[in-house]
Amino acid sequence: MDREEAAKKIADLRATLEEHNYRYYVLSSPVISDYAYDLLMKELEQLEKEFPEFDDPASPTRRVGSDRNEEFVQVKHRYPMLSLANVYSAEELLDFDQRIRKDLEADFQYVCELKFDGTSISLTYKNGLMEKAVTRGDGESGDDVTANVKTIASIPLRLRGDHYPEDFEIRGEIVMPFRVFEELNRQREENGEPLFANPRNAASGTLKLLNSSEVAKRKLDAWFYMTPGNPLGNQTHWDNLQEAAKVGFKVSKNIRLCNGLEEVLEYLHHWETARFDLPVATDGVVIKVNSLKQQEILGFTAKSPRWAVAYKFKAEQASTTLLSVSYQVGRTGAVTPVANLEPVLLAGTRVKRASLHNADIIASLDLHEGDTVLVEKGGEIIPKIVEADTSLRHPLAQPVRFITKCPECQTPLVRLEGEAAFYCPNDTGCPPQIKGKIEHFISRKAMNIDGLGSETVDLLYQNGLVRQVADLYQLKKEQLTPLERMGEKSAERILKSLEDSRKVPFSRVLFALGIRYVGETVAKNLAAAVGNIDRLGQMPQEELTTINEIGDKIAESVKEYFQNPAHLEIIARLKDAGICFETETTDAELKSDKLAGLSIVISGTFAKHSRDELKVMIEVNGGKNVSSISKNTSYILAGENMGPSKLDKARSLKIPLISEDDFLKMIE
Ligand code: IVH
Repeated sequence: MDREEAAKKIADLRATLEEHNYRYYVLSSPVISDYAYDLLMKELEQLEKEFPEFDDPASPTRRVGSDRNEEFVQVKHRYPMLSLANVYSAEELLDFDQRIRKDLEADFQYVCELKFDGTSISLTYKNGLMEKAVTRGDGESGDDVTANVKTIASIPLRLRGDHYPEDFEIRGEIVMPFRVFEELNRQREENGEPLFANPRNAASGTLKLLNSSEVAKRKLDAWFYMTPGNPLGNQTHWDNLQEAAKVGFKVSKNIRLCNGLEEVLEYLHHWETARFDLPVATDGVVIKVNSLKQQEILGFTAKSPRWAVAYKFKAEQASTTLLSVSYQVGRTGAVTPVANLEPVLLAGTRVKRASLHNADIIASLDLHEGDTVLVEKGGEIIPKIVEADTSLRHPLAQPVRFITKCPECQTPLVRLEGEAAFYCPNDTGCPPQIKGKIEHFISRKAMNIDGLGSETVDLLYQNGLVRQVADLYQLKKEQLTPLERMGEKSAERILKSLEDSRKVPFSRVLFALGIRYVGETVAKNLAAAVGNIDRLGQMPQEELTTINEIGDKIAESVKEYFQNPAHLEIIARLKDAGICFETETTDAELKSDKLAGLSIVISGTFAKHSRDELKVMIEVNGGKNVSSISKNTSYILAGENMGPSKLDKARSLKIPLISEDDFLKMIE
């Protein structure tokens, strides 16, 4: 390759990698596999080595990626949090092994461990008590997520026994078990919220939530794999891990001491398939030199230790033909494209469909009709298309174009600003939306109508008996009994259950209405704050955002819901049917309204109360705790170590800072 070609290729690779970085770290929605990403990165590294004249400090090869979020206080790591070099084959592993042999010129052992696929965390303990939990961030400093990590039941808040160093640091991976991940996505689907692509994104997204009681509900777990700085003072990594387990950390039982590469390969071979039986996602094996002295001799490169390597499992891939793209309309009207494929065997199952997520992904894959595509089953439950093979494309093949009309009711689709999904706006006339809304309305956590399942809803809809939820309360026994598979008993059970649903409290009724973004928790908060449906319908958008956990997006969606006359009619008919539209004890949890109308940002750490406690104190006194500073912020409750970007913003918007004591006086 000549200089000119190299310059162009380097620029192309940098731009492509930046785009993938953005999709991975910012949008949490990667479109290529880690493997494909690594290949691009390696190609760029190689070219930069060959043509050092094109060096650029902003090149993607110079950074490890960052998960930093300015809502959290930044903490500098005592020891940088590096990443690992990846290998994908036995040959590459052999190179690693030979390099170690050459550099050490002595006998050594490896420790093989599973590489957990979550998000890394560094914990520090002072005199046995958890002091801080910090994310990797950019490797140098990360986000202080202590309050969130303290909710993870398997992480000790206090070390066990009495043999631990005064200052102790340990690193591990926070994961979301598959079971929890599936349940979370099920709930998100029910609430019309976007789904997490895989357990890793779900774990890192959860750790960055600003409300730790929400984190607690998500049942995260953690596995620990390293004690930087050797605070336990052992000679080997193995002994450190055994001791870490004794002081209370979860250390995988599946680690193994290996003498030589052959034993390492045996371990890899075993876990390549055995990992599918584990309750959490793993994406490889980490191979580490056991002796800490030898680790020291081997040292580090700028990005990773020389004494360890990650062997990444290859996500199983298969090549097949794209037959067509179909479009599914969900309860909220969101239109999801699905690829129909020539059936192909992948990771033991016959795959004939792959998710395409949204129009942007179709465009970035540059899919054409009839393309030969590479499908992959990685950490995701549903396989995805990784790339289209353009060399096999028919010259006249047409690009796949996202539909412009709803496939069910022909209404032109709309795309909301800042969202990737297209929606069918005809929510009161589009069959899957109507049926989906009825199914949601009758579900257990909503009105809990016994005896009505999706098949019966379909029958009721097909027979013209129910067109919207209020019609349910007009049903008569003589209309139900002639339906297929419906006996007298079942009909009676449904009617009794509908009758009982008149006692369902307002917060659940509000959830049952299926307003976009109004899930169970939001419905509870709204119901507690407004007291009845009429007040909710009349409340201006700005006032809605002063309610606990209600941001602009939810407020706008609520407002929109009440602007639609068809929705008002449904509510009126449900009221006539005796459904409950008010809370019995409005604002029962409020202690005072001393902070009514104030929106307060908490930043930094505090002497007397935790951030969570302060948050509760704001809310029970009628105020709103918001996470980011805007011109609408009334005060910043500022503790120590307030993030510099927040401080700058507060100054430029002239928002007053108050101390913990000022605040306590305000609510006295
Ligand atoms: S050792 C210097 N061991 O993989 C880094 N890492 O790409 C030493 N990971 O950031 C890391 N399981 O988040 C190590 N058993 C394990 C691991 C593991 C998962 C993650 C970790 C790290 C990333 C490296």
